This record gives sequence, C-alpha cells and structure tokens, in this order.
Amino acid sequence: MKAFTTLASIALCSATAISSVRADCHDLMLNIPVNGTNYRLDILRVDSNTDAIDLVVDIDRWTSQNITERILGEVNISATFSIYAQLCFPEAAKDKHIVQILSHGGVFDHRYWDSQLDPAQYSYVYAALNAGYTVLNYDRLGNGLSEKPDAYTVAQAPIEVEVLQVLTEMVRKGTLLSHSAAGYYYSPKLRLPAFDKIVHVAHSLGSQITAAFLTKYGNQSSGAILTGFTFPTKTGPFKASAFGLEFAATNNPELFGDRPSGYVVPATVNNLQNCFFHRYNASDPTGFTEEALAYAESIKQPLSVGEAVATRGLLKIGYSPDFTGPLQFYLAEFDFLVCDGDCKGDYDPSFPPHVYPNASALETYIRPGAGHGNVLHKNASAGYAVSLDFLKRHGL
Ligand SMILES: *[C@@H]1O[C@H](CO)[C@@H](O)[C@H](O)[C@H]1NC(C)=O
Ligand SMILES: *[C@@H]1O[C@H](CO)[C@@H](O)[C@H](O)[C@H]1NC(C)=O
Ligand SMILES: *[C@@H]1O[C@H](CO)[C@@H](O)[C@H](O)[C@H]1NC(C)=O
Ligand SMILES: *[C@@H]1O[C@H](CO)[C@@H](O)[C@H](O)[C@H]1NC(C)=O
Ligand SMILES: *[C@@H]1O[C@H](CO)[C@@H](O)[C@H](O)[C@H]1NC(C)=O
Ligand SMILES: *[C@@H]1O[C@H](CO)[C@@H](O)[C@H](O)[C@H]1NC(C)=O
Ligand SMILES: *[C@@H]1O[C@H](CO)[C@@H](O)[C@H](O)[C@H]1NC(C)=O
Repeated sequence: MKAFTTLASIALCSATAISSVRADCHDLMLNIPVNGTNYRLDILRVDSNTDAIDLVVDIDRWTSQNITERILGEVNISATFSIYAQLCFPEAAKDKHIVQILSHGGVFDHRYWDSQLDPAQYSYVYAALNAGYTVLNYDRLGNGLSEKPDAYTVAQAPIEVEVLQVLTEMVRKGTLLSHSAAGYYYSPKLRLPAFDKIVHVAHSLGSQITAAFLTKYGNQSSGAILTGFTFPTKTGPFKASAFGLEFAATNNPELFGDRPSGYVVPATVNNLQNCFFHRYNASDPTGFTEEALAYAESIKQPLSVGEAVATRGLLKIGYSPDFTGPLQFYLAEFDFLVCDGDCKGDYDPSFPPHVYPNASALETYIRPGAGHGNVLHKNASAGYAVSLDFLKRHGL
C-alpha cells in the first residue's frame, strides 16, 4: 500500500500508481552533498530554438566521442543538490536485502523505468519488484524533479558520478532517510535496513555515468546491468540532429518553463521515434505501438547542454579492476544512436574482459528487434527476465 501522497507524485501524474499495487513506495527529496570536478567547455549558449540548432550543428561537427579539444579548464564543484528518488520495497521477499539503483538516460527521468502504460509489459520497476528486489529509482541531477542547476558547468556528467557514489553509500549505510529534506513527507514508520548488496542498472547516458562510477568506485557495486551502451567501436558523429532539439522553456512553457538557459528537449514525438524506437511497420511483433510512442512523448524531459555533450569524452571510463561483480551489457538490436541502427557484430566482445579483469561474469545480451529505448518496445518484460535471471545466476 502506498502510505501517502506527495506534491511530487501529484505533479508526476501518477508515477507511483502501479507500484502501489505491488509494493510499498516512498517519494524522497534527498540532500546529496558532493565534491567533484566538471569542465569549462567551449560550448554555445542556448536561449532560443535558433541557438539550439546552432548547437546541434556544432556538436555534430565535432569528432564524435572525443570532445577533449573543447575543454577549456576544470570547474571544482562542492555543493549539496536536491535529488528526487522513489524507493520501493517488494511485497514479497522482504528479507532479501538487495537493492537496485536505477540511472535513467538523457531526455527522460526516472519514469523511463516505470511505465504506467501496461506495467506488466513495460515497467522495469514492476519486474524488479516482482523478482524481490528493493528499487531506488532517482532523477539524475538536472532532470525530472531533481535540482536543475546551471546547464553549462554544473549539470554535467562528471558530478553525476559523484551523486551516484553518495547515493550508493547512503543506501549501503542505511542513512538515506536522514538526508530527506525537511518538510518532505514519507511514512514516519519507514525504516531502512543497510543494504550490503547494491546492483546498478542504467540506460544510455546513465550507463556512461555508471560505467565511470565502476571505474572510480568499482568496489561499491555488487553487479551492474548497462543498457543502451557499449564500448566505442565507431567514431561517427553523435547524431545530435536526430533529437530535433528545441529550447525547453519555449518548447513547452507549461511543463518546462522552469528550465533556465541551456536546457533543451526533443521537439516532436517523431524525434523521439528516430532516436529511441524501431519497427519495420505497425505489425512488427518486436516493434512498438502508437500508444507506447505517445506515452514516451508524455514523459519526455529536457536535458542540459552540459549533459548533451558530456559523453565519454568527459567521463573517465576505463580499466575497472575494483569491480568484482557480474556485468551485463544489454543492447537493443536496432539501436540507432549507439550502433548506427544495427548492434549485431557492432560491439567488441574482447574489450570488456580487459576493462573488467575481476568481474565475476561478463555477458552481452542483444534484445531482438528493439530500438534504443527498449523499455517501450513490445514484450519488453521478456528482456527484463534475461537481466534478472543473469543477476540471480550470479548470486544477486
Ligand atoms: C567535500 O569537501 C569538503 C572540504 O574538503 C569536506 O568537508 C566534505 O566532507 C566533502 N564532502 C563529500 C561528500 O565528500
Ligand atoms: C582526444 O583528443 C585529444 C586532443 O586532440 C587527444 O590528445 C586524445 O588522444 C584523443 N583521445 C581519443 C580517445 O581519441
Ligand atoms: C580543483 O581542485 C583540485 C584539487 O583539489 C586543484 O588541484 C585544482 O587546482 C582545482 N581547480 C580549480 C580550477 O580550482
Ligand atoms: C572500497 O575501497 C575503498 C578504498 O580502498 C575503501 O575505503 C572502501 O571501504 C571500500 N568500499 C567497500 C564497499 O568495500
Ligand atoms: C511488415 O513488415 C514485415 C517485415 O518486413 C513484412 O513481412 C510484412 O508483410 C509487413 N506488413 C505489412 C502489413 O506491411
Ligand atoms: C584484479 O585483478 C588483478 C589482476 O588482473 C589483481 O592484481 C588485483 O588484485 C585484482 N583486484 C581485485 C580488487 O580483486
Ligand atoms: C516475448 O519474448 C519471449 C522471449 O524472447 C518470447 O518467447 C515470446 O514469444 C514473446 N512474446 C510475444 C507475445 O511476442
């Protein structure tokens, strides 16, 4: 039973509705203190749709994933950020103290993982709870209900690695609730155990941030599922133009009017289709429905330009000897963004063993038929079963 309703869950129009059927869910607004180093970048400012196109053309002109030449200097950040998270306990297996921390990708927030449209088919949260895991599903910095700081130097991927580390440490120590903001309501009876097993699950930009976390803080993760991510085998352009980015505050003043300079959002539902979906035609059994596409549009979110360019070039992703858990790379077969539309044979299976020499298991799974946003393709739950089974087979 969901114990309470918060302003946040009302604002989200229901983010917790389903989970309430199957689990005990709590909305948290956490104060997360972090120290870290971002970059000062040679990057265009965006205060209009015209600026957004200038930016897109500029980004796509850069040589793909190496933006080193655009780094002007470092910016040290020492701050406490408001981070929204939803914490759900499974009804069953309450004594199974394994928690999954979910990091969404770009242009979505935590709702990416928890579809309110046919949750049994699409919601990863629903699947993980059913399998007995506790789930912490948060909005990354600059996204959803979390704080939206300066888009150029603060809302960048490097500091988000530190946010993930602090969240992970709070979960491990059982101190999450003592960091929940005053005046934000959660059930007073809520008690949090300390979790000794923490699995990190992520999508796309969230996977890059999580991979950087495994490189820097590998011993703090018990296992990981990285979706929509593979090691670079190609150096094509980033495909920023496929997103059809517009300045968020004017794209939808009602929803995104609070976004300052430098927050951008895909203009139309078909821009989302271009980047996140795949099917041959409407009857493709591994494709998607119009309803699922419309649902994606209803939950899309702006991202900061600092995030838009902060792909691997700004993150230290590499040799991760301290990570000793199982790791699954989960690719969508027809991922346009990651594999130019076809991931079969587009990843290098010899690469991960060098990067994760002490991982207990390494596996790449290719989800047949899906596009980059695999969670909203038909029969998505059959893919989740593959990941959850992988974790169980390897002790998590
Ligand atoms: C950040 O740095 C300050 C000053 O060195 C230190 O007091 C604080 O504990 C650090 N915070 C975190 C989360 O590491
Ligand atoms: C990225 O560019 C910088 C500067 O040109 C260069 O030193 C570095 O080796 C490049 N990195 C990769 C991964 O290509
Ligand atoms: C950031 O902090 C590091 C280490 O604390 C320091 O060496 C560096 O000079 C600082 N950079 C800036 C731009 O202040
Ligand atoms: C990970 O390693 C660091 C550095 O050796 C250590 O301080 C920390 O306690 C370790 N954390 C865990 C969860 O083992
Ligand atoms: C849809 O595409 C598939 C695969 O190309 C094809 O076999 C099928 O005939 C198409 N169906 C329709 C209704 O066009
Ligand atoms: C990881 O493996 C290397 C050898 O590849 C070994 O030297 C190192 O001690 C291992 N680290 C951990 C944390 O197990
Ligand atoms: C869903 O996927 C599973 C596993 O890939 C497959 O066996 C099943 O037939 C699929 N169901 C539908 C309705 O497509």
